[in-house]
Amino acid sequence: MSGRGKVVCVTGASGFIASWLVKLLLQRGYTVHATVRDLADSKKTEHLCALEGANERLHLFKANLLEEGSFDSVVKGCEGVFHTASPCYGNAIDPQAELIDPAVKGTLNVLSSCVKTPSIKRVVVTSSTVAVEYNGRPRTPDVVVDETWFSSAEFCKQAKLWYELSKSLAEEAAWKFSKDNSIDMVTIHPSMVIGPILQPTLNGSSARFLKLIDGSSTYSNISHGWVNVKDVGMAHILAFEVPSASGRYCLVERVAHHSEVVKILREQYPALKLPESRCADDKPFMPIYQVSKEKVKSLGIDYIPLETSIKEAIESLKKKGFVSF
Ligand SMILES: NC(=O)c1ccc[n+]([C@@H]2O[C@H](COP(=O)([O-])OP(=O)(O)OC[C@H]3O[C@@H](n4cnc5c(N)ncnc54)[C@H](OP(=O)(O)O)[C@@H]3O)[C@@H](O)[C@H]2O)c1
Repeated sequence: MSGRGKVVCVTGASGFIASWLVKLLLQRGYTVHATVRDLADSKKTEHLCALEGANERLHLFKANLLEEGSFDSVVKGCEGVFHTASPCYGNAIDPQAELIDPAVKGTLNVLSSCVKTPSIKRVVVTSSTVAVEYNGRPRTPDVVVDETWFSSAEFCKQAKLWYELSKSLAEEAAWKFSKDNSIDMVTIHPSMVIGPILQPTLNGSSARFLKLIDGSSTYSNISHGWVNVKDVGMAHILAFEVPSASGRYCLVERVAHHSEVVKILREQYPALKLPESRCADDKPFMPIYQVSKEKVKSLGIDYIPLETSIKEAIESLKKKGFVSF
């Protein structure tokens, strides 16, 4: 119970990653100040209130990233702040208003509340590998991406990668603000996150995973990293608890092409209706690449294998009725 007697804040607590983070924090004895946008929406709160320890140690607050000062009262008395809230989808109609403003202004808004709060010892911000990998450098099997890589805003803009741009700009702004204001900040950079879902609704990355098993006839010609949501939650906590933690941490158990994920699914669930062995295009497969595990190992994370994450994701999607077979 390393968190007993300690108060921490989680922004965007109803989300896929944050719900796990809240669950793990409560398990460790922390008192959690959790923010949602709409306290009256039971889909955002019920699963959190049902967590073990919630009755005694979970306090829900209403806060919006785009309302200045919204987080002031939430972070009051906290030792740690986990800023996970950020829109997490790719198909925005107005990228500036939907993605970039909440990501960038929202992060600065949360950090501004932290500066005013002397009890805060460290802030852990959820970034992404999309703030690491998108810079035009080739990614091939012999290339090892690590925490020294940064995405290029110009590259993202030209490729119209708006979510990637939102996370890159938010991280850049966060580092500048934290350095200017002497905030002890750590950033966590997960790749695509899958695993068991605690919330009742489907989040973006679980929806993308579901596409592989929703009866589509083809899979995308794409390779990217995968990581289990439980490892992501725990990495946030260790980034707060381990005194020597600093800088950025990439979180990728394995980079795999979608064809490989379909192969694993076929082995695990022979009855599942999967894309036939067909890619969506006739181009050569997008190569896999490596992402360094060195830094995250120093936090004490021993990754859950992709095969287990896939199984846990499927079982959870099935249990919640998002897929039936
Ligand atoms: N899932 C992934 O594969 C993945 C990978 C790398 C990084 N990430 C990052 O991890 C974080 C959480 O992602 P997730 O997958 O857990 O997504 P999610 O389930 O969609 O959660 C996102 C959360 O952000 C909150 N939010 C959005 N706009 C907000 C606003 N204007 N004000 C306050 N809260 C707002 C939402 O709050 P309400 O529910 O109250 O509306 C929601 O709880 C994000 O920063 C995302 O970029 C995700």
